[in-house]
Amino acid sequence: MLLLTAVVWDIRYKSAVVRDTRAGMHIKVERLSTSGNRPRTVRNMKREEWSSTLGFILASVGSAVGIGNIWRFPYVVGANGGGAFLVPYLISVLLFGLPLMVLELAIGRSTGTSVVSAFRSIRQRFSAAGLVIVAIVSLILGYYLVITSWVLAYALSFTLNLPMDFGAFTDSYLPLIFFLLAGLAVFVTVRSGVREGIERASRYLIPVLVMILLFLVAFSLTQPGAVEGVGFYLSPDYSRLTDPGVWIAAFGQAFFSLSVGMGILLTYGSYLKGGDLFRNASIIVVADMLIAVLAGLMIFPLVFTAGLDPAAGVNLAFIALPSAFTEIRFGLVLGALFFWMLFAAALTSAVSMLEVPVAALIDSYGYPRKRATLLVFAAVMLLGLPSALSYTALKLEVFGTPFLDLADYAFGTIGLIVAGLIISIVGGWFMGRTRICAEIGGCGWQQTVYMALIRYGVPAILLITLIGSFFRVTE
Ligand code: PFF
Repeated sequence: MLLLTAVVWDIRYKSAVVRDTRAGMHIKVERLSTSGNRPRTVRNMKREEWSSTLGFILASVGSAVGIGNIWRFPYVVGANGGGAFLVPYLISVLLFGLPLMVLELAIGRSTGTSVVSAFRSIRQRFSAAGLVIVAIVSLILGYYLVITSWVLAYALSFTLNLPMDFGAFTDSYLPLIFFLLAGLAVFVTVRSGVREGIERASRYLIPVLVMILLFLVAFSLTQPGAVEGVGFYLSPDYSRLTDPGVWIAAFGQAFFSLSVGMGILLTYGSYLKGGDLFRNASIIVVADMLIAVLAGLMIFPLVFTAGLDPAAGVNLAFIALPSAFTEIRFGLVLGALFFWMLFAAALTSAVSMLEVPVAALIDSYGYPRKRATLLVFAAVMLLGLPSALSYTALKLEVFGTPFLDLADYAFGTIGLIVAGLIISIVGGWFMGRTRICAEIGGCGWQQTVYMALIRYGVPAILLITLIGSFFRVTE
């Protein structure tokens, strides 16, 4: 709210930033009075850019790979037909996730600016839709940071050999301190800028994450429960494919995992100069899928080795796995590695979410990055506070449900789909075919198929997922 108020106030009374495409500059113009004075150029700001395509890919993989891959994907697979789930998941990712990702990147690169100003440049009245997306991503970030903070707490507890019990932890007010620490880590990264902060963090963290994951998979597969674990995870139950709930779970998981439809890739695309968007998006998508599948190969053998319930669902990461680590040999080291890896994944995802409102403030209202980051950080911490408090001694609940669970449903499930719908409609129907074609390499038959997918296929699937999620078919 704070952020929205600031932004709306700014649109109406103060300033606007326009883009001089030839110079690649952003020029802040200021209205001197409401009586129609000509705008005065205040200052020129060189727009930030990735240092290379690799930097962009790593940052986008960092955004996509998060708690959704390492914690959520394995249990969603387990609950939805094991190996058979991979069929609808693959279809969702390739047929709907990938095209939406390319569309976002195309809007970002073509308009050269972030979501609110990009939408405004497509149609003046769409800036409100851009603000809705900014609000949704900020609300998701609020509760995502709470989960990130639990991961940080576990990482520290394993590292310092101070066993942590989730129940006791959330019966205290300690989670609030970790919430602040996790928020600060994200704040510092985004404040440092696109290259120096976001790109640099991903350049270090993503390779480390992959190495830890490969090590953990190798270890897990040598454990006594490996055969049983892999069997449970991947043995396909094809009869489940006739269940619409399984398909809806696949669509929901694909959109959440790829971070599409939130204006993140649009913003990241606006820092991108050249390159083949399909190729780059395919790399991001494949990396995201591989990491998710590998995470399952690591988790289930451990769960079976420790004799835990594999259908522990949402409790898998914070209750079942930590106790699995206490049962097995080298468990402390493995637990520390696992939670630091999860923290790296969550941090780079949270960073990408924070960048959406920050970039909106910078691009649309000419805020300097540092001030924009501080403002958004404060707003997001406030938005996340009820979720944080719901897992403390206060146990903040609404209708008997912890606030965080409600936020996950309202913003992370319903809000995410609504935002995806907005982007696919604004981009697919109003940006103009020629403009999209210019970004995706011409207007041949492939692009015609692509446009049909974007205009009809993606919105239809999002709508079905929305209705399905509304009635909680997936639960
Ligand atoms: N893709 C991230 C994950 O898999 O954890 C989560 C996420 C990031 C969801 C950004 C939504 C979003 F806008």
